Formats: sequence, C-alpha cells, structure tokens
Amino acid sequence: MGIAVVILAAGKGTRMQSDLPKVLHPLAQVPMLAHALRTAQSVDPDHIVVVAGHGFDAVAKTTRDYHNTAVIVEQAEQLGTGHAVAQTRDALGAYDGDVLVLYGDTPFISDETIEKIAAARQSADLVVLGFHAADPARYGRLMAHDDQLQRIVEFKDATEAERAVTLCNSGVMCAKASELFSWIDQTENKNASGEYYLTDCVEIATNHGKTARVVICDEAETLGVNSRVDLAQAEAAFQTRTRRDMLENGITLFAPDTVYFAYDTVIGRDCVIEPNVVFGPDVTIESGATIRAFSHLEGCHVARDSVVGPYARLRPGAELAEGVKIGNFVEIKNAQIGEGSKVNHLTYIGDADLGKNTNIGAGTITCNYDGVMKHKTTIGDNVFVGSNTMLVAPVTLGDHSMTGSGSVITRDVPAGDLAISRAPQDNKSGTAIKLVEMLKQRKAKRDQKDQ
Ligand code: UD1
Ligand code: CA
Repeated sequence: MGIAVVILAAGKGTRMQSDLPKVLHPLAQVPMLAHALRTAQSVDPDHIVVVAGHGFDAVAKTTRDYHNTAVIVEQAEQLGTGHAVAQTRDALGAYDGDVLVLYGDTPFISDETIEKIAAARQSADLVVLGFHAADPARYGRLMAHDDQLQRIVEFKDATEAERAVTLCNSGVMCAKASELFSWIDQTENKNASGEYYLTDCVEIATNHGKTARVVICDEAETLGVNSRVDLAQAEAAFQTRTRRDMLENGITLFAPDTVYFAYDTVIGRDCVIEPNVVFGPDVTIESGATIRAFSHLEGCHVARDSVVGPYARLRPGAELAEGVKIGNFVEIKNAQIGEGSKVNHLTYIGDADLGKNTNIGAGTITCNYDGVMKHKTTIGDNVFVGSNTMLVAPVTLGDHSMTGSGSVITRDVPAGDLAISRAPQDNKSGTAIKLVEMLKQRKAKRDQKDQ
C-alpha cells in the first residue's frame, strides 16, 4: 500500500511578527519547511503535496528547492486544517493509498515515529500521533481509552474537564485517502474558531464504526513553532540533541555548547571540533580531521586527517583531500585542495584547483573576479607559491613551479619554472643612515621654530 504526504503550510504565523512566512524561518540552517519535507521523504511517498497560502510564491519556491517533484497547492483562505487538506483533493486525484498529514511548523517528528504510525495503520482506519504534554496549553486534547481514540477536542471548544486531559494532538494523522476526504466533507465549522477542523475527522470516523488509534511519541518531537520564542527553543533543542549524538558517535567536542550544527552535518569518528565552530548546511567531514576554534564551514567536504583553522572559513565547493592544512584567516571557496597541501595563513583561494603537496604562502590571493566574470586558477603538484602572491585568473601554475613573494602573476607559469614579477631590488649604499640623519636635522629645525 502506497502513501502520500500532505504538508500543511498555509498559515500566516501571526505570532512570528514577521514578513517572512512562518515555515520559511530557518531552523538548524534550513527553512523549517525543509524539515517536514525530509520527514516526508522518509516514508518513500508516492506524492508529496504542500498546502501553501500566506507567502505562496516564496513557500512554493522553497518547496521546489528542497524537493523538486513535490506538488504545491494553494489554500487562498485559511479556513482550517480540514479545509487545508481538502485542497489537495485535485492533486491526489483518485489516489488509493494512504495520506499522512504533517505540519510545516512541526519540524522534529522522527522517522521511527513515522514508522510506528505506519505500523499502527495495519490495525486501525485512522491513526493520530499524540503526546503527553508537560504543559498542554492550547493543544487539542485526545479523548482516548488506552490507545483507542474517540474524538479530539480543540482547546477553545473544550470543557474544564476536557482541558484537564494532558494527552495532546500533534496534528500528524494518517488514513486512507478516499476515507479521509469523505470524513473532511462531513466536517462543519460550527466551533469556537469558525474553522473546518481536521481533528473532527476522528469523531466522524468513529461514528461510522471506524477504528482510530493513538500512537504516542516524545513531546520533544511534536514541538510546534508559533513564535520566535518557540523557534529559539526549537533551535536549542536541535543543537542539544545533535551535540549529544556527535559525542556518542565518537566525536570530541571540548565545549559542546559553543558548537553549532546544521540539520545535515556529517562528521566521522575521532574528529575533534574545537570551541566556537559553526556548521552551515551540507558539510561532511571524514574521520580524524580537526576543526580548530572559531571556524565557519558550509557546503564543503573535509577528508581524513585534515586540519582546518583556527579562524578559517570554508565556503560552498571547498573540497579538501586527505591531510590538508588550512590555517588562520584563510577563506576557501569552490576549490579543490589536493592531498597534503597547505594553505596556512591569511589567504583567499576561490575558483581554484590545487594539486598535491603544494604550499601556498601567507597572504596569497586568487584574483578570481574581474568585476564581471569569475575565472579559474589551476595549480599543480609540489608548487611553492611565495607569500603575498596575486594570482590573476585565469592562470595556471605547472607542477614543481614557484612564484617569488610579492609577485603579481598574470601569465601561466610552466612546470619547474620560477616566476617573479615585481620591481627589481636596488640597494643604495649607506643611504639608510644618511636618510635618518637628514630627517633628524629637519625635525630639530622644526622644533626650534615652534619654540
Ligand atoms: C492544530 C490542531 C490541534 C493540535 C495542534 C498541534 C486542528 C483544528 N487543531 O491546532 O489539535 O494540538 O495543531 O500543533 O487541527 N494550516 C493551514 N491552513 C489552515 C489552517 C492551518 O495550512 O487553514 C496549517 C498551519 O500553517 C500550520 C498547521 O496547519 O502549519 C496547524 O495550524 P494551526 O492554526 O497552527 O493549528 P493549531 O491551532 O495550532
Ligand atoms: Ca500551531
């Protein structure tokens, strides 16, 4: 039996106090919506349908950025969660599999929990994901006996006795598509919010003699983001969990609370991550590498036993082979650094390809941008680039070549050659001493005049 995932993301998120649609606020370095899309992919769905409304164009674009076959449907007016799911009817057509409903603002549902929901569907017509809330606040309350669910009562519509129930609705729900749509058709908006509630499907289903079951997960997974306070708490929860996972997987963090990971950071065993390191999206680091303090990495790959930092910046497309050394105040962008090569100090390497065992001197710059276009610098194996060399791209330095420090290299350097391009040195005999004497006399004259 197949499954389609519907992600609800049409709401405005008024409490975010933002021009940006709520589901596009970043969490763990990606828009919140990307987390729901990732969860959706874990069930290998036949379809993913995102319901967008507020900020439709931006939400649609982000959806396509993270999942190029997801279908986006518009809910022009937000008339409730049931109404939102109903908007997917055309997109899902006569789909005869299940529909799993996720929320764009509930980013942490685990794959294991989704598997439990799928398993529970084997023995129930409708499955709802619930959790025991420490503070049930305004969540919908699940009216259940053991795991048999009768109905869901929204906070606004609940009696005092119903509000006393601490088993809450996460919003995640799963049922056969055709049945879910028929139950939604029967919902009404005669409630405190004047909305068509998806949650009303439970009572409608059970009234038709269908079985509804609750699957319970940890409250941390169902954390829904409604405000920036919630968002900050969600970020903190993500970081705390990820730091612990990293430590348990054999990575050393001296000061775990100062290291920030992205949703997809991959780090191998026996890596050392020093304090105050920030990982942007799409970073992979192989075993045994060290990332020293105050470094910032995104969109890059660091192979075994490399050392990066302190104070280094690896930008998208930086690819470090084994045993590479990238030192302080070095920026690498869209560049391959070959095995054993060293870029130790105060350097920018952009749009470049470096071979093996090459040494880049302090203060070297690949001048990759002419104001209009970007150009490539190619550097071979065993090259020695002297300090403060400007490599004006496009340019190629052959294997075993060298550049004299302070050179501005505008033409290719053949293999084995030394290129020097700077004004020749002229030593003027004794002039330094004479110059100082002259200056001292001048100063003495001036001081006399001032008195
Ligand atoms: C909903 C549930 C509640 C549950 C809670 C968990 C209903 C009626 N209530 O309440 O039982 O405890 O979530 O967080 O379902 N959305 C749309 N279109 C709409 C309305 C909402 O796309 O017309 C989207 C929102 O963008 C959001 C999600 O659905 O991603 C939940 O909507 P929200 O208004 O936050 O529901 P709650 O009142 O929190
Ligand atoms: Ca909500």
